[in-house]
Amino acid sequence: MTKAEADGEGEISDLPEHKSEVFVANIEIDELDGIGPATKAKLNDIGITTVLDLAVKSPSEVADAVGSDLSRATELCNKARAKLVELKYFDEDFVSATEIYKRRKAIERITTGSKNLDDLLAGGIETQAVTEFYGEFGSGKTQICHTLCVTSQLPKDKGGLSSRVVYVDTENTFRPERIAEIAHSRGQHSDTILEGIIVAKAFNSSHQELILAELGSQIRKSGVRLVIVDSAVAHYRAEFLGRGTLSERQQRLNKFMHTLVRTAEVYNVAVVVTNQVQSSPDTFFGDPTKATGGHVVAHTSTYRIYLRKSGKNRVARMVDSPYHAEREIVFFLNEKGVDDPSEDAVSRRRN
Ligand code: GTP
Ligand code: MG
Repeated sequence: MTKAEADGEGEISDLPEHKSEVFVANIEIDELDGIGPATKAKLNDIGITTVLDLAVKSPSEVADAVGSDLSRATELCNKARAKLVELKYFDEDFVSATEIYKRRKAIERITTGSKNLDDLLAGGIETQAVTEFYGEFGSGKTQICHTLCVTSQLPKDKGGLSSRVVYVDTENTFRPERIAEIAHSRGQHSDTILEGIIVAKAFNSSHQELILAELGSQIRKSGVRLVIVDSAVAHYRAEFLGRGTLSERQQRLNKFMHTLVRTAEVYNVAVVVTNQVQSSPDTFFGDPTKATGGHVVAHTSTYRIYLRKSGKNRVARMVDSPYHAEREIVFFLNEKGVDDPSEDAVSRRRN
């Protein structure tokens, strides 16, 4: 049975579960050879309880947790990977294009609430991918995140995945009242929608990393299909000031982003991150704004969308995508959260 077949429609109370995925997701780490009670306890301490969790972690994190050298940690990670290959959950190292095509067919999409923005994304936010929205303050990053909290919980025929959301809030800008308004404007019960959102406030970058370590078990436990990190970069930018700290900042951010990419792929969830751009008024050539995360975020996000304000409208542009055309679309922010500009909605109704 494919994931798509397994994920039936329904209310968020009867969350879809993929049989074989649930089975794989619950295989505990001590089922691997060479993991005794002491190692198990140490791995549990950093949120690794299953083989799947172990496969998502980097050997250096595992080495730190277990107190071993890197080669033993690499061996453990490889064992986890091999087990998942054996169970046909992971692809083998050399696979046919047909296999990759099959795995990609399990990708599902979540509507952003705007037809224009969905078109730009070839149908909406994808699972198995990290989508980054970057832009200046007020460009709509947080509003997109809030709207996705509602739309992802809709049934599939309405553009959602009938599933829960994890919202990692690093800037203290998560507003349940705004979610309630968006839900209500979209004809949903705001109480039900709010129940489906698991919020984690990250107080600093280390806390943000701890939350990430727990993410796998939260996804499994609560049937989450969308993870939002708003913003992925803010704490790193605030804490690592000055040139001397730049390489550590980039390293930590790099690890954070790579774990998110692996999480998206392994658990077949959609991950959305935001990233503020700083205005550099002294730049005369090229784009006067640049993403704060620098190259790290740019190279690990699967899709990057640049947002800017244009009067009352917002403009989104797909940047560096392997298969989307680079073009711009216009969307609008209102009581429904993200929406299409009224003239587009009117012309669509006419057609
Ligand atoms: P930073 O986090 O500061 O980088 O900005 P951001 O890109 O996250 O901006 P955000 O998504 O918060 O967008 C702010 C804009 O959304 C405001 O300028 C308003 O235009 C719009 N907005 C925010 N809240 C509401 C609301 O409740 N109703 C409506 N109609 N618009 C809103
Ligand atoms: Mg914001």
